[in-house]
Amino acid sequence: MPKLLVTGGKRPLQGTVKISGAKNAAVAIIPAAILTSAPVRLENLPEISDIHVLVEILQSLGVRASWPEPGVLLLDSSGLHSWQAPYRLVSRLRASYYLLGALAGRFGRAEVPAPGGCDLGPRPIDQHLKGLAALGAQIEVEHGLVKIAAKGLYGGDIYLDVVSVGATINLMLAAVRAQGKTVIENAAREPEIVDVANFLNAMGARIRGAGTDVIKITGVDELGGVAHSVIPDRVEAGTYMIAAAATAGDVLLLDVIPKHLDPVIAKLREMGVTVEVAGDSLRVSVRETPQAIDIKTFPYPGFPTDLQSLAMVLLTRAEGNSIITENVFESRFRHVDELKRMGARIKVEGRSAIIEGVCPLSGAPVRATDLRAGAAFIIAGLVADGKTLISDIDHIYRGYENICGKLRALGASLVEVE
Ligand code: UD1
Repeated sequence: MPKLLVTGGKRPLQGTVKISGAKNAAVAIIPAAILTSAPVRLENLPEISDIHVLVEILQSLGVRASWPEPGVLLLDSSGLHSWQAPYRLVSRLRASYYLLGALAGRFGRAEVPAPGGCDLGPRPIDQHLKGLAALGAQIEVEHGLVKIAAKGLYGGDIYLDVVSVGATINLMLAAVRAQGKTVIENAAREPEIVDVANFLNAMGARIRGAGTDVIKITGVDELGGVAHSVIPDRVEAGTYMIAAAATAGDVLLLDVIPKHLDPVIAKLREMGVTVEVAGDSLRVSVRETPQAIDIKTFPYPGFPTDLQSLAMVLLTRAEGNSIITENVFESRFRHVDELKRMGARIKVEGRSAIIEGVCPLSGAPVRATDLRAGAAFIIAGLVADGKTLISDIDHIYRGYENICGKLRALGASLVEVE
């Protein structure tokens, strides 16, 4: 696997960047497409490896897939013949858990190896399984394989003990064709959930309340074909916003839904960064040294955990001490040791990290500990003195379309090296 060589310096990022379709919506909508045997056309898909792996999994189950143009995927699930997803591919992405809900919804059966993806500490799927059981599925977990069998799925009342994006979506997938009414309480409210619900409703599903914490689903017998364009990626947008702020740059982001970025905009403004919103674009610029702030991650509409490691790099550029509290994942501070090796002064105490700023960073070899941390190290490399060599960059390509090209167009210096 090649590595990424980032040359730091004082050069601010400047220019325009177009934001791609949302990874976390796309990885749910693609498996959702097997709930119908009619053709589905998906647009604005990001060109990232997670999507290609997912499409390969569906093809291995008998789905026909083609890419008539970049970002556009045609899926035809009329030939879907298997509910057994192959370990070799499933182990490569976290979102493969959506195959459980989608296959159960289509066949009443599913066999899916426990999912892979980013290592953010323990990532149980007990709430997914509890919900599927409430819909009438028998579930066995054996030798790392989750097996679901149901004579039929029936609507049920489900209360999620934790607010989970994955469980909320998975249960929507299983419930849309179940008999009767399902109510999901304490549901997650992320924009990606609303996008999946809009996609399913356009296929003929009856989902109400997506985007609130109570989702009601009335099962239907059949779903039809649909064309759907995926929403913009708010985490990718947040990444470029933070990169612009960290390098004291001036960057215009196109194709965003600013509302989805409210918590990020609020926090950047609190630091003294200028954020201008106009229609579906956002401009981030820096006029003075940003000030230290505290950030607490929470499920949407809170500050996204996926931007926590990136915000940490930005806070090393801020004047004063900042505190980040990670409330969503138990151990999502694996990037801290790598940032410290670049000279950052960060102290972790339990779920909180105290970041000292302004702190000079210096280039060092670092390992992309997960997808978002990988992007954080790129930004750290851009503001550091000297060269930063990032390994395990396949994590980064799982979720960021053309990140090197987009950053280079903004003036960054980074190249892949063997
Ligand atoms: C999704 C996103 C990921 C994001 C995360 C939180 C996708 C593909 N990934 O991941 O980018 O970081 O939401 O916004 O959309 N939990 C349980 N039991 C469960 C499920 C979750 O205890 O059955 C816990 C998790 O360990 C975590 C919290 O709930 O502490 C939230 O996780 P969840 O929202 O499910 O994250 P993912 O869907 O895996």
